[in-house]
Amino acid sequence: MTKPRVKKIFASVVDAIGETPLVELSRLTRGLDGRILAKLEYLNPGSSKKDRIARQIIEDAEADGSLTPGQTVVELTSGNTGTGLAIVCSVKDYRFVAVISKGNSPERARMMAALGAEVVLVDQCPGSQPGRVSGADLERVEQEAQRIVRERGAFRADQFNARGNFRAHYLHTGPELLRQSGGAIDAFCDFVGTGGTFAGCAAALKETNPAIRCFVVEPAGAAVLAGQAATRPGHRIQGGGYVMPSLPLLKLAQVDGYIQISDEDAMATARRLAKEEGIFGGFSSGANVAAALELLRTSCRGKTVAAIICDSGMKYLSTDLVE
Ligand SMILES: Cc1ncc(COP(=O)(O)O)c(C=O)c1O
Repeated sequence: MTKPRVKKIFASVVDAIGETPLVELSRLTRGLDGRILAKLEYLNPGSSKKDRIARQIIEDAEADGSLTPGQTVVELTSGNTGTGLAIVCSVKDYRFVAVISKGNSPERARMMAALGAEVVLVDQCPGSQPGRVSGADLERVEQEAQRIVRERGAFRADQFNARGNFRAHYLHTGPELLRQSGGAIDAFCDFVGTGGTFAGCAAALKETNPAIRCFVVEPAGAAVLAGQAATRPGHRIQGGGYVMPSLPLLKLAQVDGYIQISDEDAMATARRLAKEEGIFGGFSSGANVAAALELLRTSCRGKTVAAIICDSGMKYLSTDLVE
């Protein structure tokens, strides 16, 4: 098999973003009827899928003139978008300020700092717990990001609204899934933060084959997109499940169903993924694979389900994800 990643010398590490491998999880699916195809996004340079949107948002903004040479870039991040932006901004010579909740694992802030970012840590709300970033915690980070943008006349990457977030997955991740699988995908499920990955992939997949069913994955007890009450907003699945009832990038018409995954199931599946498949992903990767397993047991029996391994388990070494 050819390996496109090693075929040529890239001009910079930014060109090494994307074209991640697609791997069948044949050990985890033993005894089940159907296949799970996992896209290993942790093999991107910043160890997450968010490198893709960092590149797209910056390049789109350069192209339309909203980002000018020497301007500072600011973003609210749970760490992964910030790491992607730190990489892209260091290569392209922009100063980058990452605004992050103290509720995220400390590895993330340290990695961004190592990549040259200025990291601004924002306290959680009274009563919030480290490792559990709520919508209210995120609102505090948003206010601080807005203040810094005003103060410095900066460019706000704005991943919750930027078309580049959608376009990165519409132009690349989705088409890669189709090409690498030879079009043999029946369903796609994705744990939603901004909804950029879900929306971009779902648009690309359905445009090619409208029969592909796309499922939104949410934390159990925080499934507001599915119309449920938020009884447990302080879940453990970092990077999403922010209890926002609508997301600018997410079109409900693309959603064929909703799946809820508990913290325990996300974590247990991430551990199985590491021990049985040798794939070390974070909590949300565990949630995506847990959802894909659930689909094979229920409405997608006998089918092929695609799932994203969003980031690396290395980003969670300080948590109890690792036994
Ligand atoms: C680890 C992780 N998983 C899942 C997501 C959700 O992805 P999206 O924002 O594309 O919905 C994010 C987003 O930051 C993330 O960092």
